[in-house]
Amino acid sequence: MSERWLFTGFRLIVEMGLDDLFVIKKWNLFWLRSERESKDYNSNDGFSLIEVHLQNLMADAAGVNLDESGGSGVVAEVSVGIQEEEATEVEICRREISMASSSSSLSSHGYEIPWVEKFRPTKVKDIVGNADAVSRLQVIARDGNMPNLILAGPPGTGKTTSILALAHELLGPNYKEAVLELNASDDRGIDVVRNKIKMFAQKKVTLPAGRHKVIILDEADSMTSGAQQALRRTMEIYSNSTRFALACNTSSKIIEPIQSRCALVRFSRLSDDEILGRLKVVADAEKVAYVPEGLEAIIFTADGDMRQALNNLQATYAGFRFVNQENVFKVCDQPHPLHVKNMVRNVIEGRFDDACSGLKQLYDLGYSPTDIITTLFRIIKNYDMAEYLKLEFMKETGFAHMRICDGVGSYLQLCGLLSKLSIACLTAKA
Ligand SMILES: Nc1ncnc2c1ncn2[C@@H]1O[C@H](COP(=O)(O)OP(=O)(O)OP(=O)(O)O)[C@@H](O)[C@H]1O
Ligand SMILES: [Mg+2]
Repeated sequence: MSERWLFTGFRLIVEMGLDDLFVIKKWNLFWLRSERESKDYNSNDGFSLIEVHLQNLMADAAGVNLDESGGSGVVAEVSVGIQEEEATEVEICRREISMASSSSSLSSHGYEIPWVEKFRPTKVKDIVGNADAVSRLQVIARDGNMPNLILAGPPGTGKTTSILALAHELLGPNYKEAVLELNASDDRGIDVVRNKIKMFAQKKVTLPAGRHKVIILDEADSMTSGAQQALRRTMEIYSNSTRFALACNTSSKIIEPIQSRCALVRFSRLSDDEILGRLKVVADAEKVAYVPEGLEAIIFTADGDMRQALNNLQATYAGFRFVNQENVFKVCDQPHPLHVKNMVRNVIEGRFDDACSGLKQLYDLGYSPTDIITTLFRIIKNYDMAEYLKLEFMKETGFAHMRICDGVGSYLQLCGLLSKLSIACLTAKA
């Protein structure tokens, strides 16, 4: 194998009709490995052979006779070797294929790509929630002249999705040559900034007026501060032809000089209604049987993280084929909110021993103190009780959480918390 082909063994799940074979042909296929025959084909075999082989493989996987059916909507798994630079494109094409095929009856084969990828929005306008941020991005997508951007916010709220969609809308067919995407899995030390990023910034690409090349630095908070320092001047020198889009979870991990060169777009956790809307869309598209309480439970476990919500939906569906509260909490393996709610009620109504035995049950089931205390906090936040008492409860829970984070996550710690909550109740009554 020649050294030019660095990226090998990319496993691709092909999920499309045979008409879509051109998508595969477009990539510079290096080798293709049949999982069934344990046989490698390389580029010397020519495309036609690979194509025929793919056709057979796909037809085989679907158990159909190619001549009769035309083989549409079949699933096959092949490993392909792809030149390193083309790997990003594979991801994107795969996304496009999956969007195109989401309405087909592929799920019956039980071999699916994750729904988070299948339903990743490809247009900025399809991104749910964060209305202000999304409308700002929509204006940029329409008018061009993208400023340097930092997208900051909690995980699973649509930062990467927004940047990719924005870059696609801005650059359309030029995406491949005008976008450089680097994430935390790529080496992004100072050398890469000096060489790869600078070289890309210097590259000449003909684009329509008002459009610029885009360098996407995903998970930018994991870049060393040395590498960020090295970016400063590059950002300025090439600003007439290249713009940067950074995505990160905590904007404070981006050094100040970079922050001052960028427009900050903040993403926040998604609201329950926003997640519910999206869950319903996905559940309907995948014909998932659910009851409203099931979706509520998913929303509770996801806590504003759309990725988590979709993953939990898929996991529950895969495990039980039916989404109700019970199944969701079994799959997600979090303390059952009703159980925790009972515990809080026992404390408030003065049954301390019962509260403690409820806690013991949870502890014995193997839930970690962090699991228990985060659920407890969420329950307290929404519990119907006197304002004063709620504030006291939240304060004490916060302190206990802090001590658990410091490493003292014992049963005693949690019992101590319950007793403090009980004392708060007694004081409130007195
Ligand atoms: N606002 C949203 N609207 C619709 N789908 C979303 C949204 N946010 C997240 N998703 C879903 O969750 C998946 C992950 O989103 P994305 O990669 O954009 O998260 P992120 O904000 O970049 O998170 P991280 O900080 O972990 O990188 C997407 O593929 C999409 O299916
Ligand atoms: Mg991301």
